[in-house]
Amino acid sequence: MTSLRLSRRVQRIQPSATLALTARAKALKAQGQDVVALTAGEPDFETPLHVRESAVAELKKGGVVGRYTPVAGLPDLLKAVANKFQRDNGLTYKPEQVLVSCGAKHSIFNAIGALVDDGDEVIVPAPYWVSYPEMIRFFGGTPVIVDTAATGFVLTADALRKAITPRTRVVIVNSPCNPTGAVWSGKDQQAIADVLKGTDIAVISDEIYEKLVYEGSHVAFAALSPDACSRTITVNGVAKAYAMTGWRIGYAAGPQAVLAAMNALQSHSTSNPTTVAQLATLTALAKDPEELPLWRKQYQTRRDNLVKALNAAPGLKCATPGGAFYVFPDCRAWLGKRHGDLLLKDDATLCEALLTKALVGGVPGSEFGAPGFLRFSYAASDAELAKAAERIQRFGRELQ
Ligand SMILES: Cc1ncc(COP(=O)(O)O)c(C=O)c1O
Repeated sequence: MTSLRLSRRVQRIQPSATLALTARAKALKAQGQDVVALTAGEPDFETPLHVRESAVAELKKGGVVGRYTPVAGLPDLLKAVANKFQRDNGLTYKPEQVLVSCGAKHSIFNAIGALVDDGDEVIVPAPYWVSYPEMIRFFGGTPVIVDTAATGFVLTADALRKAITPRTRVVIVNSPCNPTGAVWSGKDQQAIADVLKGTDIAVISDEIYEKLVYEGSHVAFAALSPDACSRTITVNGVAKAYAMTGWRIGYAAGPQAVLAAMNALQSHSTSNPTTVAQLATLTALAKDPEELPLWRKQYQTRRDNLVKALNAAPGLKCATPGGAFYVFPDCRAWLGKRHGDLLLKDDATLCEALLTKALVGGVPGSEFGAPGFLRFSYAASDAELAKAAERIQRFGRELQ
């Protein structure tokens, strides 16, 4: 047997922990176990009907739907994305400054690929979305992790200033945040923009949870000032706001030279995203889904119920996040305790025990650079959330 050598580049990265845990919870469910999986970052609502119907109509019509489009996306879609940024964020982008990709994940991959060289540093506030450090490492960069747990999960000007070195190329901003649900105010973000003024440091602002804000309002980093705009690649997509995770459409906009480089990278990997998904996105982006206010209300109620239930579990401490659909309780009081014969030595062991003993799937905070925390998604039905809450509380009472 020939043993094939893997590239050093790919050996630097780990598979996505959240996807792996979601698969594990699903596998247990498939074996007949009554698992409540709060692992995935996926809306439990249907893609709006008019969006699905528009895709069906395009498929029936044939023509464009069966063809390649320009790498960056259909010209009408680029215009629709530019309109979205103008309408929702007050940002003026020309269609040439827009790139449509296979999910926001792909947009971020392209952006990091276009900006990061071997040895470059990228500042990543922790807790962070699992893919940022892996993508940075894949492209030869070094993630510089800045812990924000002590400052309400907000990156402060002071912490940012201390993390910057001559090698810093990019700062990642993600508000509302996965995994914490934290929403950074205009003031929080302006403090970051002020530190970056006069530098050549870029910002990748991942705004995929823009529409899921329950307290305060969303602020687009690029909209802070012309200076902020000139250094920012704004990333968004339809996955979370339109319940379209499976359609795999994300988009980015920003300085034209960076977007042209991202386009070149995409031209040699996926080319255009699937045409029917682009056409459905064109329908979606015409306006916010009618269902959105209702979804937001439901998410907010679920969040409130879950936060209350987690705080009622002895030892857990859970802040009320302002956005996204995650809660991020502090479980440090549970570490070092025993559940039956199992010692909960860290958050990973705790998650394993929660899954196998209490049949609740969550993700350990250490996967997001925040050991001692857990992430639960509340993009799940009220009944499932109530069941999970009851099981977590019972698990907590059983600890010794
Ligand atoms: C913070 C963050 N950014 C980007 C993405 C990727 O979104 P998409 O499904 O559009 O690739 C996710 C998905 O979970 C996310 O949580």
